[in-house]
Order: sequence, then C-alpha cells, then structure tokens
Amino acid sequence: MQVLGVDIGGSGIKGAPVDVATGTLIRPRHRISTPKPATPDAVSDAVARMAAHFEWTGPIGCAFPAVIKGGKTMTAANVDDSWIGADATSILSNRTGSPVTLLNDADAAGIAEMRFGAGHNEQGLVFMLTLGTGIGSALFYQGKLVPNTELGHMEIRKKEAERRASARIRKKKGLTWEAWAARLSEFLNRVENLFWPDLFIIGGGVSKKHEKFIPLLETRTRVVPARLFNDAGIVGAALAAASPGPAPGDTPEQESRPRQMEDQPASRENSLKSNQKPIP
Ligand code: BGC
Repeated sequence: MQVLGVDIGGSGIKGAPVDVATGTLIRPRHRISTPKPATPDAVSDAVARMAAHFEWTGPIGCAFPAVIKGGKTMTAANVDDSWIGADATSILSNRTGSPVTLLNDADAAGIAEMRFGAGHNEQGLVFMLTLGTGIGSALFYQGKLVPNTELGHMEIRKKEAERRASARIRKKKGLTWEAWAARLSEFLNRVENLFWPDLFIIGGGVSKKHEKFIPLLETRTRVVPARLFNDAGIVGAALAAASPGPAPGDTPEQESRPRQMEDQPASRENSLKSNQKPIP
C-alpha cells in the first residue's frame, strides 16, 4: 500500500509517497516553505499543493506539531494560534479531497523509528525526542504508543525545555556543542528521573550530526540517534494513515476516521495553548 506522508513543521512542509510495507519513500521528497502566518487556510493550501505535486488522490497521513485529539489540533506552539481547537482533519480532507489521518509530529516520527529504525524490536520504555524548532516527544512501551506527551514544555529553570534546548535555540544563541549538550542532558535527566526509560532516540534534522553531541550527553539511559533522520515524520504519518482502527489521539467516543468531509469547525472550549493555560 502507498500513502502520501506529509510532515508539517514550523519552517517547512515535507512530503513524499511512502511504501508502508517497507517504510521507504517511493519518490524524492518535496519541500514547501511553511506559509507565514501558518494559518489553517494557508497550511491546508500548501498540503493541497503537495498532493498536486505528486498528482496524489489516495490517503494522506499528516504529522503536525501540536496535540491532536479526535483529529482536532488542541495546541499551537510553533504555528498560528488559529489552529487551537480547529477540526484540522476535516479542514485538510476538504481542501485536498483525500482522506487525511492526522497525528502529532513526534508521535509520527516515533512510529517510524519503532517500526523501521532505531527502536525496532525495543520492548521496554522508549522515548523518541525530536529536536527542531521545538522539542517533540513520543512515548512507547512494549512497542505501543502513548500519544500526545508534550515533554518539550516541561519547565526547567523557569523556562519551557524547548526554549532552552531545542536545535533552534542552539543556533539562535550560538551555543557550542558542549554548552548545548549540557542543556540537553539536564532535560534528559529530568525525563529519566520521572519515567525511567530504557532508551532515548534522538531525531530531528540535527540528529544527522549526532556524533557531535550524543557522546557529550550525561545520562544513565542509552541514547541513540534516529535512523530515518528527517524522513521519520513523513514515514510515520503514512504508517498511521495505513493502520486500521482509531488514529493516535482518538478516544472510542471520538474517532476521527472515517470522517464526514463537511464537519463543522470545533469549539475552542477545552483547548489548551502550549503553556497549558485555558483559552479565554
Ligand atoms: C509541540 C509538540 C511538537 C513539538 C515538535 C512542540 O512545541 O508542542 O506538539 O511535537 O513542538 O514539533
């Protein structure tokens, strides 16, 4: 089976058709710059352009940098606030004319790494952490995903962890690999003291340079680089779209698949901003 995998990020939207049996990209990946502001209209237009680029009419899996519950985007840390509470699955399905499965970007990357990459055959408690514009996290136990963990927003020294230790912050502050690794270690130590994982998989674009910082990390937990590097989100989104049953983040009463194409936008009530404060 082939599914178009799309990874929506703070700076770029990347996609490619994926052979879900092997986890390989069937065509070279295509990148579109994330529109600014990254509103639902502008981003869904970009996803439709992505589908048109591949002349795609089949199912689409979309990885998105937010908490996804029942197909809706509940937070918006690095995209426009108008995504909060939006019925993103319907918006994307309606705009592309294809059935869309939506899930958190780190969860997507983790699904791909657990199936085809660094987490293959790992049965213990595994954290996939993506270091990019923000810090994404995905938790697996015995190979099963616990969706929507948001450890990048854990507070360290009165700041969200992703504002101290994401790859973006390393560049923005011009941190040396040593200084950045020290910040990252502090974050990982916090996580390991709370969850006692067996493995950390480090993903995101910077994972290509893993030899520069992974040896500098001080943790009691094993740390390995992602093997699919930046393709993990694309592959994982496609895998999620191809797997039967509820999408990650769905509850039995609140399944996002199959979805009515004409669903009304969601209420903004009960949605949370990235800093977890209720929406006024
Ligand atoms: C978002 C997460 C996302 C991560 C990586 C965070 O700011 O809250 O949902 O997984 O960035 O993109």
